[in-house]
Amino acid sequence: MQTTSKEAPTKAGDKFLPLDIAVVGAGLGGLAAAYLLGRAGHRVTVFEAASTITDVGAGIQLSPNVTRLLARWGLGEKVKELAFVPQTLSLRRYKNGEVVGWRKWGEIMERDYGAPYCHIHRADIHNILFEHAKPYINFRPSSTVVSVDPSVPSLTLASGEIIRTQVVIGADGVHSRIRSILVGKPDSATPTGDAAYRTLIPTSLMLKDPELKELVNEGANCWMGPKRHVVGYCVRRKELYNLVLIHPCKGTNETTREVDCDVMRKDFEGFEPRVQKLLSLVDSALVWSLMDRKPLDSWVHKDSKVCLLGDACHPMLPYRAQGAAMAIEDAAVLGNLLSRVTQRNQVPALLQAYQDLRLPRATLAQDESRMNQLTFHLEDGPDQERRDNSMRAAMEVALKELRGEIADTTCVGSENMWGDKEKNDRSFGYDADVHVEKWWAENSGRVLAKAKL
Ligand SMILES: Cc1cc2nc3c(=O)[nH]c(=O)nc-3n(C[C@H](O)[C@H](O)[C@H](O)COP(=O)(O)OP(=O)(O)OC[C@H]3O[C@@H](n4cnc5c(N)ncnc54)[C@H](O)[C@@H]3O)c2cc1C
Ligand SMILES: *[C@@H]1O[C@H](CO)[C@@H](O)[C@H](O)[C@H]1NC(C)=O
Ligand SMILES: *[C@@H]1O[C@H](CO)[C@@H](O)[C@H](O)[C@H]1NC(C)=O
Repeated sequence: MQTTSKEAPTKAGDKFLPLDIAVVGAGLGGLAAAYLLGRAGHRVTVFEAASTITDVGAGIQLSPNVTRLLARWGLGEKVKELAFVPQTLSLRRYKNGEVVGWRKWGEIMERDYGAPYCHIHRADIHNILFEHAKPYINFRPSSTVVSVDPSVPSLTLASGEIIRTQVVIGADGVHSRIRSILVGKPDSATPTGDAAYRTLIPTSLMLKDPELKELVNEGANCWMGPKRHVVGYCVRRKELYNLVLIHPCKGTNETTREVDCDVMRKDFEGFEPRVQKLLSLVDSALVWSLMDRKPLDSWVHKDSKVCLLGDACHPMLPYRAQGAAMAIEDAAVLGNLLSRVTQRNQVPALLQAYQDLRLPRATLAQDESRMNQLTFHLEDGPDQERRDNSMRAAMEVALKELRGEIADTTCVGSENMWGDKEKNDRSFGYDADVHVEKWWAENSGRVLAKAKL
């Protein structure tokens, strides 16, 4: 079923050298990488443990730095069709719903970053990527990879089958087996002390209630309370309302499992009436514990034939909603770099470049996510008041800008991370391909010279 695109956008022209590449994991990051590598002309096989591309999951957020990439890959319209573009982000006080932090999103994101901020169901973006990648890949479902020999490199499947290849990309998610082989020691995750509930509410139920109706039409909401917060937004063309509820929990089980909805309601009983109403509409929910992992020193095995991508190398806590974004961005960088191969001995330099371009940014996103845990969960008191005042100040600036009273909306260091324009520019203005082009302009001489040896 392998097809190679005639108009393969390889950067290496006639001299392009197709490689055998194994991608482990058909998640969002793995599929995005497989698509780009296959389209460039590599022979890509994707090994996935699950038997099909399933419909599991709930909402994920795609920031402009990712929707920009998706649009470039020809997926802009499909994403827009299924996604929800929130018009505003409101950060609220848990007790009474007072908005303390606020920002206009919607067309402002398009204006400032040339791409929308989207909320989408994971299953929708997963299907979109799978359909797009399919013509360029050999897909192997029900194929759990149990071990890797990084020097060959080769993979061993649960069935006992051994596959020799030339490059292995470990995109096997937060519990990555490839990571443990690469790092050479067991995974050490530390509890954050938090767990997350996740549930979806049909918006048809919310539209019947005038108070909840506003929430459907408005945009994204975050209610900040002591040691806990709630995030709510629409997905799937506003058919479903996605709720994520972070709360203290001693457990350490990261597997998602069903939870008693009454236990969940009890955890949030101090929250404003609309949150109570939302939770009364819920008849099933999932829970999982949030575990933190330190950034890795390296994403590439020393033999330079195996690398990691996405949650496998930088699992993100959900406090900044960047897990999917970062995995897709990794794929863009790796795909762009490996489309330039003309000789096999260039691969180590290109994998190293992938790590150099991505690791600092992924680490920063991990740190920022961790920081939001503290910011969102302050107990009522002076620190919380200081936070809210800082957010209010940024909101004032945003409102003034909207009224055309000021042009400069920089609120450097605001407690509302999304109110800090400088931070937004760094995050959302980032264009993965531009960074690769810049690196290539500076380093291609060295990489190509090496190839001639
Ligand atoms: C089923 C599922 C549901 C999710 N739902 C949500 C959600 O609702 N909201 C949210 O924000 N995030 C969700 N996530 C996480 C989110 O998809 C990731 O944080 C993000 O997209 C990064 O993607 P990734 O490609 O690195 O990893 P993932 O998307 O986790 O994909 C990893 C893939 O590797 C496969 N795999 C794992 N081990 C092996 C192996 N040994 N051999 C072969 N294949 C293997 C897994 O089956 C999976 O398909 C979910 C992840 C999964 C797997
Ligand atoms: C975690 O929960 C899952 C799903 O309920 C269960 O199968 C698994 O045994 C649990 N793991 C631990 C370590 O308790
Ligand atoms: C987009 O920006 C966020 C915010 O910092 C970042 O965490 C994420 O990795 C970026 N995603 C992409 C695809 O660049």
